[in-house]
Amino acid sequence: MAHPIGIFDSGFGGLTVFRAIAQQLPAYDFIYLGDNARAPYGNRSFETVHEYTLQCVRWFFEQGCPLVILACNTASAKALRSIQQNDLPHIDPAKRVLGVIRPTAELIGNFSTTRSVGILGTQGTVLSQSYPIEIRHFFPDIKVSQQACPMWVPLIENGEQHSAAADYFIEKYIQELLAQDAAIDTVLLACTHYPLIEEQIKAHLPRHVQVLGQGAIVAHSLQDYLQRHKEMDERLTKNGEVLFYTTDDTASFDKQASVFYGQPIQSQFADVTPL
Ligand code: DGL
Repeated sequence: MAHPIGIFDSGFGGLTVFRAIAQQLPAYDFIYLGDNARAPYGNRSFETVHEYTLQCVRWFFEQGCPLVILACNTASAKALRSIQQNDLPHIDPAKRVLGVIRPTAELIGNFSTTRSVGILGTQGTVLSQSYPIEIRHFFPDIKVSQQACPMWVPLIENGEQHSAAADYFIEKYIQELLAQDAAIDTVLLACTHYPLIEEQIKAHLPRHVQVLGQGAIVAHSLQDYLQRHKEMDERLTKNGEVLFYTTDDTASFDKQASVFYGQPIQSQFADVTPL
Protein backbone atom coordinates (compact mmCIF):
# COMPACT_ATOMS: atom_id res chain seq x y z
CA MET A 1 0.00 0.00 0.00
CA ALA A 2 1.18 3.51 -0.80
CA HIS A 3 1.82 5.90 2.08
CA PRO A 4 1.57 9.33 0.47
CA ILE A 5 1.77 12.78 2.02
CA GLY A 6 -1.74 14.24 2.18
CA ILE A 7 -2.19 17.85 1.08
CA PHE A 8 -5.49 19.41 2.13
CA ASP A 9 -7.30 22.59 1.22
CA SER A 10 -10.87 23.80 1.38
CA GLY A 11 -10.78 23.96 -2.42
CA PHE A 12 -8.33 25.03 -5.09
CA GLY A 13 -6.03 27.41 -3.23
CA GLY A 14 -3.84 24.73 -1.67
CA LEU A 15 -2.70 23.84 -5.16
CA THR A 16 -0.48 26.95 -5.16
CA VAL A 17 1.30 25.50 -2.11
CA PHE A 18 1.24 21.94 -3.40
CA ARG A 19 2.83 23.07 -6.67
CA ALA A 20 5.89 24.27 -4.74
CA ILE A 21 5.95 21.14 -2.54
CA ALA A 22 5.78 18.77 -5.54
CA GLN A 23 8.67 20.64 -7.19
CA GLN A 24 10.74 20.49 -4.02
CA LEU A 25 10.01 16.82 -3.23
CA PRO A 26 9.36 15.10 -6.58
CA ALA A 27 10.16 11.56 -5.37
CA TYR A 28 7.36 11.40 -2.79
CA ASP A 29 3.80 10.14 -3.31
CA PHE A 30 1.07 12.72 -2.72
CA ILE A 31 -2.69 12.91 -2.46
CA TYR A 32 -4.31 16.32 -2.83
CA LEU A 33 -7.86 16.79 -1.55
CA GLY A 34 -9.99 19.89 -2.11
CA ASP A 35 -13.20 20.07 -0.08
CA ASN A 36 -14.82 22.07 -2.87
CA ALA A 37 -18.35 20.96 -1.98
CA ARG A 38 -18.10 22.94 1.28
CA ALA A 39 -15.67 25.71 0.27
CA PRO A 40 -14.95 28.48 1.00
CA TYR A 41 -14.14 27.97 4.67
CA GLY A 42 -13.06 31.62 5.13
CA ASN A 43 -16.20 32.94 6.87
CA ARG A 44 -17.21 29.72 8.68
CA SER A 45 -17.18 29.22 12.47
CA PHE A 46 -14.37 27.51 14.39
CA GLU A 47 -16.66 24.52 15.05
CA THR A 48 -17.57 24.05 11.40
CA VAL A 49 -14.02 24.44 10.09
CA HIS A 50 -12.83 21.94 12.72
CA GLU A 51 -15.57 19.41 11.86
CA TYR A 52 -14.99 19.60 8.09
CA THR A 53 -11.19 19.57 8.37
CA LEU A 54 -11.22 16.61 10.77
CA GLN A 55 -13.45 14.60 8.40
CA CYS A 56 -10.96 15.25 5.61
CA VAL A 57 -7.98 14.36 7.83
CA ARG A 58 -9.65 11.03 8.72
CA TRP A 59 -10.21 10.40 5.01
CA PHE A 60 -6.48 10.95 4.34
CA PHE A 61 -5.62 8.47 7.09
CA GLU A 62 -7.95 5.90 5.45
CA GLN A 63 -6.02 6.41 2.19
CA GLY A 64 -2.79 5.46 4.00
CA CYS A 65 -1.31 8.95 4.59
CA PRO A 66 0.80 9.07 7.78
CA LEU A 67 1.36 12.85 7.35
CA VAL A 68 -1.16 15.51 6.31
CA ILE A 69 -0.39 19.15 5.49
CA LEU A 70 -3.25 21.62 5.91
CA ALA A 71 -2.34 23.81 2.91
CA CYS A 72 -5.10 26.22 3.90
CA ASN A 73 -4.65 29.18 6.21
CA THR A 74 -8.23 29.10 7.45
CA ALA A 75 -8.04 25.41 8.42
CA SER A 76 -4.56 25.92 9.92
CA ALA A 77 -5.87 28.87 11.96
CA LYS A 78 -9.14 27.37 13.13
CA ALA A 79 -8.72 23.57 13.26
CA LEU A 80 -5.05 22.55 13.45
CA ARG A 81 -4.37 23.05 17.14
CA SER A 82 -7.51 21.18 18.18
CA ILE A 83 -6.75 18.30 15.79
CA GLN A 84 -3.14 18.05 17.04
CA GLN A 85 -3.99 18.29 20.73
CA ASN A 86 -7.44 16.70 21.08
CA ASP A 87 -8.12 14.44 18.10
CA LEU A 88 -4.82 12.86 17.03
CA PRO A 89 -4.03 11.27 20.43
CA HIS A 90 -7.31 9.28 20.12
CA ILE A 91 -7.22 8.56 16.39
CA ASP A 92 -3.55 7.58 15.97
CA PRO A 93 -0.74 9.27 17.92
CA ALA A 94 1.83 8.15 15.32
CA LYS A 95 0.22 10.23 12.57
CA ARG A 96 1.03 13.91 12.04
CA VAL A 97 -0.92 16.93 10.82
CA LEU A 98 0.98 20.16 10.08
CA GLY A 99 -0.14 23.60 8.92
CA VAL A 100 1.12 26.60 6.97
CA ILE A 101 1.07 29.34 9.63
CA ARG A 102 3.97 28.30 11.84
CA PRO A 103 6.53 27.81 9.01
CA THR A 104 5.66 31.28 7.72
CA ALA A 105 5.76 32.90 11.17
CA GLU A 106 9.20 31.37 11.79
CA LEU A 107 10.66 33.25 8.81
CA ILE A 108 8.72 36.45 8.24
CA GLY A 109 10.85 38.57 10.59
CA ASN A 110 13.91 37.87 8.45
CA PHE A 111 12.40 39.86 5.57
CA SER A 112 11.45 43.12 7.30
CA THR A 113 13.84 46.03 7.87
CA THR A 114 11.26 48.41 9.35
CA ARG A 115 9.96 45.62 11.66
CA SER A 116 6.42 46.28 10.39
CA VAL A 117 4.66 43.52 8.46
CA GLY A 118 1.20 43.25 6.93
CA ILE A 119 -0.93 40.11 6.77
CA LEU A 120 -3.61 39.70 4.09
CA GLY A 121 -6.00 36.80 4.75
CA THR A 122 -9.58 35.61 4.98
CA GLN A 123 -11.89 36.88 7.71
CA GLY A 124 -11.41 33.59 9.60
CA THR A 125 -7.62 33.73 9.51
CA VAL A 126 -7.53 37.37 10.61
CA LEU A 127 -10.09 36.98 13.42
CA SER A 128 -8.29 33.90 14.78
CA GLN A 129 -5.26 36.16 15.54
CA SER A 130 -3.07 33.14 14.67
CA TYR A 131 -0.46 35.16 12.77
CA PRO A 132 0.12 37.89 15.40
CA ILE A 133 0.30 35.20 18.12
CA GLU A 134 2.71 32.92 16.21
CA ILE A 135 4.90 35.77 14.92
CA ARG A 136 5.26 37.15 18.47
CA HIS A 137 6.83 33.83 19.55
CA PHE A 138 9.62 34.12 17.01
CA PHE A 139 9.95 37.90 16.51
CA PRO A 140 8.63 39.84 19.53
CA ASP A 141 9.89 43.13 18.02
CA ILE A 142 7.74 42.86 14.88
CA LYS A 143 4.59 44.95 14.58
CA VAL A 144 1.87 42.95 12.78
CA SER A 145 -1.06 44.61 11.00
CA GLN A 146 -3.81 42.45 9.53
CA GLN A 147 -6.39 43.03 6.82
CA ALA A 148 -9.27 40.69 6.00
CA CYS A 149 -10.01 40.51 2.27
CA PRO A 150 -13.36 38.68 2.14
CA MET A 151 -14.11 39.51 -1.52
CA TRP A 152 -10.90 38.14 -3.00
CA VAL A 153 -11.56 34.38 -2.76
CA PRO A 154 -15.08 34.60 -4.30
CA LEU A 155 -13.75 36.80 -7.14
CA ILE A 156 -10.87 34.38 -7.86
CA GLU A 157 -13.09 31.27 -7.58
CA ASN A 158 -15.44 32.82 -10.14
CA GLY A 159 -12.62 33.60 -12.56
CA GLU A 160 -13.16 37.35 -12.06
CA GLN A 161 -9.66 38.15 -10.78
CA HIS A 162 -8.84 40.41 -13.73
CA SER A 163 -12.13 42.33 -13.71
CA ALA A 164 -12.66 45.97 -12.74
CA ALA A 165 -14.47 44.72 -9.62
CA ALA A 166 -11.40 42.75 -8.57
CA ASP A 167 -9.18 45.77 -9.11
CA TYR A 168 -11.50 47.87 -6.94
CA PHE A 169 -11.41 45.38 -4.06
CA ILE A 170 -7.65 44.79 -4.36
CA GLU A 171 -6.97 48.52 -4.08
CA LYS A 172 -9.51 48.92 -1.25
CA TYR A 173 -8.02 46.24 1.02
CA ILE A 174 -4.43 47.29 0.30
CA GLN A 175 -5.25 50.90 1.21
CA GLU A 176 -6.94 49.71 4.42
CA LEU A 177 -3.84 47.70 5.32
CA LEU A 178 -1.40 50.55 4.64
CA ALA A 179 -3.61 52.98 6.59
CA GLN A 180 -2.95 50.84 9.69
CA ASP A 181 0.83 51.27 9.49
CA ALA A 182 2.70 53.29 6.87
CA ALA A 183 5.99 51.60 7.87
CA ILE A 184 4.95 48.18 6.50
CA ASP A 185 7.74 46.90 4.22
CA THR A 186 6.70 43.22 3.99
CA VAL A 187 3.27 41.87 3.07
CA LEU A 188 2.35 38.22 3.48
CA LEU A 189 -0.24 36.58 1.23
CA ALA A 190 -1.76 34.55 4.07
CA CYS A 191 -4.34 32.85 1.90
CA THR A 192 -3.57 30.19 -0.65
CA HIS A 193 -5.68 31.89 -3.36
CA TYR A 194 -3.84 35.18 -3.32
CA PRO A 195 -0.78 34.18 -5.42
CA LEU A 196 -3.18 34.29 -8.38
CA ILE A 197 -3.52 38.06 -7.94
CA GLU A 198 0.02 38.70 -6.75
CA GLU A 199 0.89 41.03 -9.64
CA GLN A 200 -2.23 43.17 -9.07
CA ILE A 201 -1.50 43.31 -5.33
CA LYS A 202 2.07 44.45 -6.06
CA ALA A 203 0.77 47.12 -8.44
CA HIS A 204 -1.16 48.74 -5.58
CA LEU A 205 1.72 48.65 -3.11
CA PRO A 206 4.69 51.05 -2.91
CA ARG A 207 7.67 49.60 -4.80
CA HIS A 208 9.83 49.02 -1.74
CA VAL A 209 7.25 46.70 -0.15
CA GLN A 210 8.02 43.01 -0.66
CA VAL A 211 5.25 40.51 -1.15
CA LEU A 212 5.69 37.00 0.26
CA GLY A 213 3.78 33.93 -0.92
CA GLN A 214 3.76 30.73 1.14
CA GLY A 215 4.51 28.02 -1.45
CA ALA A 216 8.31 28.06 -1.30
CA ILE A 217 8.35 28.69 2.47
CA VAL A 218 6.09 25.72 3.22
CA ALA A 219 7.93 23.45 0.75
CA HIS A 220 11.32 24.17 2.38
CA SER A 221 9.86 23.76 5.82
CA LEU A 222 8.40 20.34 4.90
CA GLN A 223 11.72 19.20 3.45
CA ASP A 224 13.45 20.30 6.63
CA TYR A 225 10.82 18.50 8.75
CA LEU A 226 11.37 15.23 6.84
CA GLN A 227 15.14 15.52 7.29
CA ARG A 228 14.70 16.01 11.03
CA HIS A 229 12.05 13.26 11.41
CA LYS A 230 13.59 10.19 9.80
CA GLU A 231 11.00 7.91 11.40
CA MET A 232 8.28 9.72 9.43
CA ASP A 233 10.34 9.97 6.26
CA GLU A 234 10.94 6.19 6.25
CA ARG A 235 7.19 5.53 6.44
CA LEU A 236 6.44 7.60 3.32
CA THR A 237 6.42 5.85 -0.07
CA LYS A 238 8.42 7.44 -2.87
CA ASN A 239 7.17 6.47 -6.33
CA GLY A 240 6.48 10.01 -7.54
CA GLU A 241 2.73 9.27 -7.74
CA VAL A 242 0.34 12.23 -7.43
CA LEU A 243 -3.44 11.80 -7.06
CA PHE A 244 -6.04 14.58 -6.95
CA TYR A 245 -9.42 14.31 -5.24
CA THR A 246 -12.34 16.69 -4.80
CA THR A 247 -15.53 16.43 -2.76
CA ASP A 248 -17.45 18.12 -5.61
CA ASP A 249 -17.82 17.69 -9.37
CA THR A 250 -14.56 16.39 -10.88
CA ALA A 251 -14.95 17.98 -14.34
CA SER A 252 -15.33 21.50 -12.96
CA PHE A 253 -12.54 20.87 -10.45
CA ASP A 254 -10.17 19.83 -13.26
CA LYS A 255 -10.95 22.94 -15.29
CA GLN A 256 -10.39 25.42 -12.48
CA ALA A 257 -7.64 23.51 -10.65
CA SER A 258 -5.23 23.58 -13.58
CA VAL A 259 -5.17 27.41 -13.31
CA PHE A 260 -3.95 27.11 -9.70
CA TYR A 261 -1.60 24.17 -10.31
CA GLY A 262 -0.16 25.35 -13.63
CA GLN A 263 -0.63 21.89 -15.23
CA PRO A 264 -3.61 19.79 -16.39
CA ILE A 265 -5.23 17.81 -13.58
CA GLN A 266 -7.50 14.74 -13.61
CA SER A 267 -9.28 14.36 -10.31
CA GLN A 268 -11.38 11.67 -8.64
CA PHE A 269 -14.39 12.07 -6.38
CA ALA A 270 -13.92 11.67 -2.61
CA ASP A 271 -16.75 11.10 -0.16
CA VAL A 272 -15.30 12.36 3.13
CA THR A 273 -18.48 12.35 5.22
CA PRO A 274 -18.71 9.60 7.86
CA LEU A 275 -20.92 6.56 7.07
N1 DGL B 1 -7.67 28.17 1.29
C1 DGL B 1 -8.22 29.22 2.12
C2 DGL B 1 -7.11 29.91 2.90
O1 DGL B 1 -5.92 29.76 2.64
C3 DGL B 1 -8.98 30.23 1.31
C4 DGL B 1 -10.26 29.70 0.76
C5 DGL B 1 -11.35 29.54 1.77
O2 DGL B 1 -11.83 30.54 2.35
O3 DGL B 1 -11.75 28.40 1.97
O4 DGL B 1 -7.42 30.65 3.82
